Amino acid sequence: PTVAVLFGGRSSEHEVSCATAGGVLGAIDRDRWNVVAVGITREGRWVPVSADPDQWRIRDGALPHVPHDERTVLPPRDASERTWRVLGADGTASALADVHVVLPLLHGPFGEDGTIQGALELIDVRYVGSGVLASAVGMDKAYMKIALRAAGLPVTPDVVLAPGESPDGRRAEIEALGMPVFVKPARAGSSMGISKVSEWSQLDAAVAAAVKHDPKVLIEQAVVGREIETAVLDGPQGAVASPAGEIVTGAGREFYDFEAKYLDDEAVDLRCPTELADDVAAQVADMALRSFAAVGAESLARVDVFVGDDGTVTVNEINTMPGFTATSMYPRMWAAAGVSYPELIETLLTGALE
Ligand code: DAL
Ligand code: MG
Repeated sequence: PTVAVLFGGRSSEHEVSCATAGGVLGAIDRDRWNVVAVGITREGRWVPVSADPDQWRIRDGALPHVPHDERTVLPPRDASERTWRVLGADGTASALADVHVVLPLLHGPFGEDGTIQGALELIDVRYVGSGVLASAVGMDKAYMKIALRAAGLPVTPDVVLAPGESPDGRRAEIEALGMPVFVKPARAGSSMGISKVSEWSQLDAAVAAAVKHDPKVLIEQAVVGREIETAVLDGPQGAVASPAGEIVTGAGREFYDFEAKYLDDEAVDLRCPTELADDVAAQVADMALRSFAAVGAESLARVDVFVGDDGTVTVNEINTMPGFTATSMYPRMWAAAGVSYPELIETLLTGALE
């Protein structure tokens, strides 16, 4: 069968998506799958790109991106055909491939938020990952927390600023959260636009930084605890949780920010699996699966929690298309459980075809 790997995209995680693709393109079984790579430029143009994984790796601290191309890729209009085409600058179209399944390796808005999923539903193409609703809920931290709270899962208190709303009118509520707080764009990822505020005088600047990514902003009480992540895979046996992994952020860094995630190998220590008391580990796995169900996720997700000194677990977030390079937490957690990177991708692709 043919898989179209879709990556890049219009969000601020464009480059991270390309790095994810670099890992995944190298791990798909090419004897079994015909692979076509479709890049989405930062402007949103769908273009034919190389399926060679080496083109998309992070190199010397430089992140890859999808370059502009005069050609565009046209998916079919509806389910009556399968052929994806390339439209040249001169207006002539040629066949790219007959695609059986799409692997949308997109992070952030216009990719992880239900928009691509909706477009693929419209043309009746199978794809890996969550559907429209779960993707949208998982992308929007305000609605994500509404869904998690409704399912009885513990999340940290927050104040949501609507687009255009100033924190001034909400000072009392915000200060009641206590210090420090995290200020986050509601719909973004990879820690883009996130600041930790340890003095109220920093709040306005933190809100301004978040608004660059999304006009809707979350101000959250900070949780003190270990950062624990769980990979959930919805395979033939239903959704299963991996052993827990842990992010240990090095000294001198306030939190697991963008640079620590992708550019500075020394900044963090990723432990897979990590040591947790049996009862805490069971609770983390249970909450990961309940979070997955709470947003209606399918196929895969990574659930991030905090574990306090007393063993209290708080759910931070769910990511419906987690970072997926060979060194990302999601595949590493499965590797720790004996599922290799290629096996993991095979499970996802096969699951989407069924
Ligand atoms: N948003 C990034 C890719 C993650 O959750 O891993
Ligand atoms: Mg996220």
